[in-house]
Amino acid sequence: HTRVLSGVQPTGNLHLGNYLGAIKKFVALQEEHECLYCVVDLHAITMWQEPDELTHNIREVTAAFIAAGIDPKAHIVFNQSQVGAHAELTWLLNCVARIGWLNRMTQFKEKAGKDRENASVGLYDYPVLMAADILIYHATHVPVGEDQKQHLELARDIAQKFNNDYAESIAKLGAPEEFFPLPEPLISGPATRVMSFRDGSKKMSKSEVSDMSRINMTDDADTIAKKIRKAKTDPEPLPSEVEGLKERPEARNLVGIYAALADTDQAAVLAEYGGATFSTFKPALAELATEKLTPIGDEMRRLLNDPAEIDRILGDGAARARKIADPILAKTKEIVGLIGS
Ligand code: TYM
Repeated sequence: HTRVLSGVQPTGNLHLGNYLGAIKKFVALQEEHECLYCVVDLHAITMWQEPDELTHNIREVTAAFIAAGIDPKAHIVFNQSQVGAHAELTWLLNCVARIGWLNRMTQFKEKAGKDRENASVGLYDYPVLMAADILIYHATHVPVGEDQKQHLELARDIAQKFNNDYAESIAKLGAPEEFFPLPEPLISGPATRVMSFRDGSKKMSKSEVSDMSRINMTDDADTIAKKIRKAKTDPEPLPSEVEGLKERPEARNLVGIYAALADTDQAAVLAEYGGATFSTFKPALAELATEKLTPIGDEMRRLLNDPAEIDRILGDGAARARKIADPILAKTKEIVGLIGS
């Protein structure tokens, strides 16, 4: 039995990296797996969020999931804070995870910056909450972008240490030896790390100040075309082999984006556009991006016109998520020696 879980933070500016690295994959996985897709609001507040904006952003991520093609009836779309078991399991896992493990997390170092003493305790504990998101459902597969790989490895380490530390108790209770299955990251394809349009060495991100650095999921056709036209590139035409992209981060990024949007790979894109200049390739990319993204943006706006309906979907999703999470939490407590439910 497989179970897919992933999450997206409601911190605004959902972009092409979030779409190609994560949400588009979520959609594809629905056919063959049971899926849970979570709006991770408790992760968002590890950095201060304006309350009204946070509420809006929670609904916006939900709308993006549905507009992209996730079916909230066949699968579970929900909001993290509405399922209390995530926070409760985090505490149990906090007592398993080691400080040394968290000290190695590169995302914390980046986000905390120089003034680490002043970062929230939540930001430090962020990866343990993420492990809880996954383990509370005994999820087996986790689709994410490249930047989440280290957090996934930590989730596996926490699961393994729990299974070891409590092996006797797990056996005594007749639970499977691997009580928490070790979750497998799903990180593959041509767009696992979409880069900024202004700097091919930085990943595309919600927090980069310049809006020209990214395509947002709600951008209109003109904006998409303008951002691609102005994207930084080198002056050479495209190579005909993938090797030729090695030292060319900006070209590699645009070719990867094209490949992901067209459901193909870089080699196939270069077979068609090898030798073409950016003045040919960029308009083709803009057309493809517009064709794929603007219907999603339009549908997001339509869904956001009815926030009550979005809240209803989240309420329904949370109720169904609790049915899976609560018994696993009760069993985990029992394993630890707490008085179960
Ligand atoms: P978040 O909200 O930063 O990003 C959501 C997803 O988008 C991917 N992503 C990218 N992929 C390719 N190129 C990029 N430039 C790019 N930027 C972002 C991220 O890898 C992610 O898959 N910690 C997670 C959220 C989370 C989670 C979880 C994920 C919380 N709990 C449990 C999986 C399972 C995060 O910050 O995602």
